Amino acid sequence: MRSVKDGCSPQGQCGCCTVLVEGAPRVACVTPLRRVEGRDVLTVDGLDRQVRDRLVGAFVAHGASQCGFCTPGIVCRLAALGAADAEKVQTALLAHLCRCTGWRTILDAALTAAAPTFAPHPAGAHDGFDEAAAARRATIEGGAAQQVGPGVVLGRGGFADDTAPPGCLVAVPDGAGGWAVGETLAEARNAAGKVQGRRSGRPLAYPLEVPEGDWDLTLQTTWVEPAYLEVDASWCEPGGMPASPAANGGDFGAKRTSPAPAAARALADRHGRAVRVVLSREDAVRLGAKRPPAAAGIRLDGTGVLRLAAAAEPGVLAAAARSAAPGLHVEEVPVVGPPVSPHVRAAGWAEAAVLLAAARSAGAGGGAAGTATAAVASPEGATAQAKVDLDGRGWPRLVWLEVDAGEPLSEVTLRSYLVGAAHMALGWVLSEGIAVGDDGVPEDLTIRSFGVLRARDTPPVEVRIHPTRNEPKRASDAAFAAVAAAAWIALGLPARWPVRRADTLGR
Ligand code: FES
Repeated sequence: MRSVKDGCSPQGQCGCCTVLVEGAPRVACVTPLRRVEGRDVLTVDGLDRQVRDRLVGAFVAHGASQCGFCTPGIVCRLAALGAADAEKVQTALLAHLCRCTGWRTILDAALTAAAPTFAPHPAGAHDGFDEAAAARRATIEGGAAQQVGPGVVLGRGGFADDTAPPGCLVAVPDGAGGWAVGETLAEARNAAGKVQGRRSGRPLAYPLEVPEGDWDLTLQTTWVEPAYLEVDASWCEPGGMPASPAANGGDFGAKRTSPAPAAARALADRHGRAVRVVLSREDAVRLGAKRPPAAAGIRLDGTGVLRLAAAAEPGVLAAAARSAAPGLHVEEVPVVGPPVSPHVRAAGWAEAAVLLAAARSAGAGGGAAGTATAAVASPEGATAQAKVDLDGRGWPRLVWLEVDAGEPLSEVTLRSYLVGAAHMALGWVLSEGIAVGDDGVPEDLTIRSFGVLRARDTPPVEVRIHPTRNEPKRASDAAFAAVAAAAWIALGLPARWPVRRADTLGR
C-alpha cells in the first residue's frame, strides 16, 4: 500500500504512516505486527467512500495538501475523529507534522468536511476549480513541478520511493561516506547499521560572530533543518535518469543538493540493475543541506555587514543577499558544520530582506508593542506586506498578509502557499534550529527536535491577494521574509533566532 508514507520510522513522530486499527488511528511504524494480528487495518484507500470523498473534496477546495506526503495519514486521523470543532481538530493534528501547508488550510478543510452543508464535487474538487492553473501556481511557489488534485491528497504525488520498479536493489548510506546495498531495505540497513534518532538536549550553536561595528540592529541565526517530510529517495535503471527526490515539491529547494539521485545512477551502473536509494530521517539530518547560519550588523540607513556560512557553490548566497539589500557587505564564511545550501528557501536573500525591512521599520519608529508590519519585494517584482500581532504571552496571535503575485492563477493554491510561508517564517524566528556538535555533526536527529511549529501553535493567517493580470510571480518567498521581519520587530528585535524555542519543544 503506497499511501502509507514513511517520514521518520521508527521514530513514530511525523504521523505520515497513520492507519486505522479497528477504527483507531495508530502510527504504523511503531506498531508491531503481532498487535494487529486478526484485526482490521485500514489505510486511506479503505476508508468509507463517503467519508473519504468529503475529506478529499474539502482538502482540494482549501489547498490543504501541497506535496501531499503528510496528507494520507492526516486524512486517516480526521476520518476517525469524525465531526469535531477546531480545538479537537488541532489536538488531533498534534500527532502529525506538515512542512508545506502551515496547518490553517488543513484546519479549514477538516471543519468544511464536517459541515452538513458541504457537498463534495464527484471528482474530488469543486466546480470551477482549474487543476492545471492550480498546478502552475504550485510549481511557481514550490520551485518544483507539482500536481494538484484528489490524487495528491490520497498520497499519489508520484514520490520516488513509490514509483520504483519491483526487484530493485536497495542502497542506504553506510555511515562512512558510501552506500550499503542489499536485496531488501532491511538487508541494506542491517549491513549499514542503523543510527538511532535522538534529541540531544544540547543548546543551539551560533557559529558566526556578529561583525565588529557600530550597529543599530544585530542578528545571529543557527543551522535550520529544511524538515521536508518526504525523506530523500531516488531510483535509477543502469544508464537511466534517476527519479527526482522531490517528485511533488515539498522541499522548497532543499533537495537540490540531495545525494540520492547521483548515488542511484552510479550504483545502478555499477551493479547493472535498477537501484533504489533510501535515506532514513537520521540519514537526511546528517547528510542533507541546512539553511546556513548567519550573523549581521546593520544601521538604519541599510548599510552593514551580513555573514553567511559558506556553501559548496561559492558566491550564490552572497549574490542573493546583495540583490535584496545592496547596501550590505556580504561575506561567505567557512564554518565547521553540516552542509548548507543556497537553494534552501530564499537562503541569503531572505536574511538580507529581513534585516533591511527591520532597519527601515526601526528607522521609522518601529511598531507599537506587540504588533508590527513589514514589507518586502522580490527581485521578480512580487510584493508582500505582513502584519504580526502578539498575544499577552508574546506569542503570535494573528498574521495578516497582503500580496501581489501577478495573476493568481488559483487563489486557493496561492493562499495555501502563502499560509505555509508564514508558518515557516514564524518557525524560523521562534523555534526552528538543530544542535550541531563541536565536530560539526548534527546531533538532533528526531523530526520533532527541528522545532517545526505545531498546528496548535500556529496562528490564523489572513491573506489578501491583489487581483492583477500581470505575469504570475513567486510571492511566497517575499511573504516568508515579510512575516519573519514583522514577527522579529513585534518581538522587540532580539539578537538571536530562534527566540522562543523552549516554548515549542518543552510542551
Ligand atoms: Fe504536508 Fe507537504 S503537504 S508535508
